[in-house]
Amino acid sequence: MDHEQLSNRFIEVFNETDYRSFFAPGRINLIGEHTDYNGGHVFPASITKGTYALARKRDDDKFRMYSMNFEDLGVIEFDLSDLDYNKAHDWANYPKGMLRYLREKGYDIATGVDVLFYGNIPNGAGLSSSASIELVSGVMFEKLFNLEIDRVELVKIGQLVENKFIGVNSGFMDQFAIGMGKKNAGILLDCDTLKYEYAPIELDDHLILIMNTNKRRELADSKYNERRSECEQALSQLRKELDVQALGNITSEKFEQYKYLIETETLQKRAKHAIYENERTLEALKALKAGDLVEFGRLLNASHTSLRDDYEVTGKELDTLAEAAWAQEGVLGARMTGAGFGGCAIALVEKDKAQAIIDAIGKLYEKTIGYPASFYEVSIGDGAKEI
Ligand code: GLA
Repeated sequence: MDHEQLSNRFIEVFNETDYRSFFAPGRINLIGEHTDYNGGHVFPASITKGTYALARKRDDDKFRMYSMNFEDLGVIEFDLSDLDYNKAHDWANYPKGMLRYLREKGYDIATGVDVLFYGNIPNGAGLSSSASIELVSGVMFEKLFNLEIDRVELVKIGQLVENKFIGVNSGFMDQFAIGMGKKNAGILLDCDTLKYEYAPIELDDHLILIMNTNKRRELADSKYNERRSECEQALSQLRKELDVQALGNITSEKFEQYKYLIETETLQKRAKHAIYENERTLEALKALKAGDLVEFGRLLNASHTSLRDDYEVTGKELDTLAEAAWAQEGVLGARMTGAGFGGCAIALVEKDKAQAIIDAIGKLYEKTIGYPASFYEVSIGDGAKEI
């Protein structure tokens, strides 16, 4: 879909030509999984796939929203007098939630908008299409209504929409990566202090491959919430002796010394993942800065193993992809990315072997799982902006 097609569709649907265009990416997480809500570090990057919004201000108080991804739902309409969640408004609850919380924070949005959305993030792939539509909407409202919104605040509003309006109890990483992303850089974020730094992704003759299981992320939300509460329980048991606010504040040495405080083996494993993954994330930043891609790849593999054995959020599909990748010559490392339970894995691979690697993994996956995986080369692009 190119910009001209989006433009033509906008004109057809709204019968107007004076629109402005906005884009927000999707994200991958290089490493640091299930650490954000544990006050640890994450290391995501924004990708060039994402969500487009073409929009114009109206003179009245009506919002008319159309998605080229859900054409059968037609134009979804509401106005300023009712900004409550409405099941019938389906995907439009994301922009609606942004609108509602922006207004609640005092931002002056007093007229309606016509907006057309189009997203090219593969559906349900765990590449954060929901955070992407939240942030593209946020930037759209910001620019159309000349609001100057601190970017980190906009990111926080995105998370609020996800948590309180949509009702998914996710952490801070996705909206942050999408709001703050930079071309050819990963962002190392400390989710405890919100301090962050950009790290150039220089891969020489390597590339990052996204491998999509094409598995629907069923039960993902309930399992996600279960993991969050398991981590809270483990933390509260550790706090009987340790004066800490989050698992991300505990070193692996301390953990080994005090893990006896955690009453069940399952809870111990969950905490172990969160704590060691946090350290791996910092090591991965070091490795990348030093240009040591072999070490970086080793850390990716260790992350997957820990998510598989200790955090138990991978499942057969993601394990098949990662393990098939590990077996290929020219793969430096591979791991699941995002929440898990389906969705995508990433692999760091030698460019000139990429096609052979894709063929081999694809074949193995289909033979084991019964349907094909999809593969895309990642390009790391900018965060949410007007285009
Ligand atoms: C999902 C959530 C994030 C994060 C990851 C796991 O993507 O939205 O906040 O918790 O899972 O790292």
